[in-house]
Amino acid sequence: MFESIEAAAPDAILGLMEVFRADGNPDKINLTVGVFKDESGLTPVLKCVKAAERRLLDNETTKTYLPISGLSDFCRQTQELYFGANHEVVTSSRAATVQTPGGTGALRVAADFLKHNLGSDTIWCSTPTWPNHPKVFKAGGIEVKNYPYFDADSHGVNVDAMLEAIRKMPAGNVICLHACCHNPTGADPTMEQWKQIADAVYERGLLPLLDFAYLGFGDGIQQDAAALLQFARPETELLVASSYSKNFGLYSERVGALSVVTQNRDAVKTVDSQLKATIRTNYSNPPEHGAAIVSTILNDADLTAQWESELAAMRDRINGMRTLFTQKMSEKLPDREFTFIERQRGMFSYTGLTPEQVDRLREEHSVYIVRDGRINVAGISHANVDALCAAIAKVLAD
Ligand code: LMR
Repeated sequence: MFESIEAAAPDAILGLMEVFRADGNPDKINLTVGVFKDESGLTPVLKCVKAAERRLLDNETTKTYLPISGLSDFCRQTQELYFGANHEVVTSSRAATVQTPGGTGALRVAADFLKHNLGSDTIWCSTPTWPNHPKVFKAGGIEVKNYPYFDADSHGVNVDAMLEAIRKMPAGNVICLHACCHNPTGADPTMEQWKQIADAVYERGLLPLLDFAYLGFGDGIQQDAAALLQFARPETELLVASSYSKNFGLYSERVGALSVVTQNRDAVKTVDSQLKATIRTNYSNPPEHGAAIVSTILNDADLTAQWESELAAMRDRINGMRTLFTQKMSEKLPDREFTFIERQRGMFSYTGLTPEQVDRLREEHSVYIVRDGRINVAGISHANVDALCAAIAKVLAD
């Protein structure tokens, strides 16, 4: 039976990791998957994480199952971190939060929950979006449509086109928005534009699903949460898929959360019960270690301060590389505009490189970039920036 199965296409992002590993060139450069890298090209374990792990190791008494919805402290802390401890959503207890295996797990639980409980048949994603978004939503049985987002000329967001599209979406549809550090473009709306977007979403009767994978990687924890707060208005409903992969560097621990904000606290219990039903039939209950690390850190003022400073250092390094890359590219190709790289935020920028140019970079220079032209700015370092810019300038100039 299995012989008749057709091979699936390699994943557009994670598939490239395998190709990169197989490249024998010692000077190869990896700007593919969105993981933070330090100056030496390593993805370090944060010091606050190591400290929390030592405590966990000393104090752990059991490996018994977690509740279906995960660690309750972690879920509460997630709400407090994203909305703010004194935010009305938190103080009025009108959000159900469950721990999930990463942000992707949160998106899949959201898709199943929306399909089974609201009969949601359509979700709108930005053009472009993270390539796994449509796949996850389709796997949950939801049709994916697209709204305009990125403007290739300005390298920013085409908010007018986005608002026009939102105003035509059928009421009751779900719209997926990147809360900050848009993946793959690095282009975010301004706060005034976010307000307009939230107004339009709610006027139209849409249900927003905010994918929040990069809190703290844009301009700071509070600054990055500001767009979410535009949606968390009195009595509004929304979903938030949070990831701790990037901001705590816990990629392999698979730790994330899904929060469903209901109009008032009456619906929370039912929503929570349905989220648990979804989780039970998917993976039964989540793994403990990653969430216990996050919870230990957020439960301790010193560890939290250490985490904030380590997060700021990651953010500053990426923003420093944005400036350096922009300077070097502008020197190499003075007639081309690269300042947008410096303006954009988060791990990614959309370079405008075509798939053919990306292929040439890989084949001729061992420079690895996602085929849509997205670069992971965190993969740039003082050691590789000259070779990288030389290679990009060469394929752009030919
Ligand atoms: C990325 O976009 O590179 C990351 O979010 C990793 C992933 O799972 O694709």
